[in-house]
Amino acid sequence: MTEAPIDSGGLVFQLIPGGCLQGRIRPPGDKSISHRALMFGALAEGETRIEGFLEGEDTLATLAAFRAMGVEIGQPAAHELVIQGVGLHGLKAPNEPLYLGNSGTAMRLLSGLLSGQTFDSVLTGDPSLSRRPMGRVTVPLAKMGALIDSNEAGTPPLNIHGGRALTGCRHRLLVASAQVKSCLLLAGLYATGQTSVQEPAVTRDHTERMLQAFGYPVEVADGHISLQGGGRLRGGALQVPADISSAAFFLVGAAISAGSELLIENVGVNPSRLGVIHILRLMGAEVEFRNPREFGREPVADLHVKASTLQGIRIPREQVSLAIDEFPIIFIAAACAEGETVLEGAEELRVKESDRIAVMAEGLVELGISAQATEDGMIIQSGAFSGGRVHSHGDHRIAMAFAMAALVAKGPIVIDDCDNVATSFPDFVKLASAAGLRINTKASAG
Ligand code: S3P
Repeated sequence: MTEAPIDSGGLVFQLIPGGCLQGRIRPPGDKSISHRALMFGALAEGETRIEGFLEGEDTLATLAAFRAMGVEIGQPAAHELVIQGVGLHGLKAPNEPLYLGNSGTAMRLLSGLLSGQTFDSVLTGDPSLSRRPMGRVTVPLAKMGALIDSNEAGTPPLNIHGGRALTGCRHRLLVASAQVKSCLLLAGLYATGQTSVQEPAVTRDHTERMLQAFGYPVEVADGHISLQGGGRLRGGALQVPADISSAAFFLVGAAISAGSELLIENVGVNPSRLGVIHILRLMGAEVEFRNPREFGREPVADLHVKASTLQGIRIPREQVSLAIDEFPIIFIAAACAEGETVLEGAEELRVKESDRIAVMAEGLVELGISAQATEDGMIIQSGAFSGGRVHSHGDHRIAMAFAMAALVAKGPIVIDDCDNVATSFPDFVKLASAAGLRINTKASAG
């Protein structure tokens, strides 16, 4: 059983079954890279110009937080920011708690950064974020000398005490989490000596790449990521690639629906984010990289995808941390793949924006698919989507995943509570309908 949904809003997606995806699309900017570009731009010396910035609710919450700490940020055109960096020690005390909406990335990364300030701060979030575990950052930060109060359950709000002297230390993470790694590296900028993080599995390395792009030395060797405190960040220009996590809905939508052929442009193809491509290719999907290039230190390509026959697979465990945000849509692919698909080792999915194991299993079963949730994954049998009504539990990626299932469903699909799609993909409905998804929206009556 899933927890009762948090009533976070009334947008309903209505999908007419059938269709296919065709043409070219350009998904919005990468959420992880946009957060980091904003944070490092604010802490840098000099001006930073960002192109391709994701104007989703999550990253806009981070933007508002930096404005509240005195950083001047201009928005000269859509998806463009000009940040007047204040330097590592130039932030001002915010007058009010910093509200971070739905964004785990904003809260976890900011908790590290704010632990190194001279002033106190408070971080709050929406009901979903208020249920997410923060002990994974507050405990290692305390080891560095930080002082953060949370709820007894280790959940937000976080009261961060300023004026603490931080000391660099070696962290051996128990959970593979780029958010935790990045939080500790950000605290490390303010710590004396060396901070180093050892991860149990490779996670997205945008923080490491972007620190280097801002001229901050970071050493990466044998699974250890290390930096010395007390350096400086230098502002500059950077371009954010399209988010592979947003592209993933279209990759799967096109792979499962006969007649599809799609080019998804400008997609970030950092190796630490390619799990979804490896998994889809193992299932038999035809995904091609075209025009490979680089935006700063981030690799980019156009992804070409066609409809193909998919096979069920046992998802390799080493792909889990590389595809951690893409499992809702991978589960849709699995339902369309011949035979059985098994995912194990993905217990992290239970503490994302929703419990993605429980919520996806519930929705799949509702739509006529045999899906069995396990503690750390799911077992899914090939089946036909019947159509029906599912609840996203306020989770953007659940809503978009079930929307794509309509391409192969026998009847209409209705998805409740879709407002949060705006956290990562504000133009999803527009782009998806232009590509061929038969989607309408309506405000719920109650
Ligand atoms: C993110 C890291 C991932 C991911 C999240 C964004 C980041 O979380 O799920 O959407 O920007 O660092 P974890 O690192 O906690 O798995």
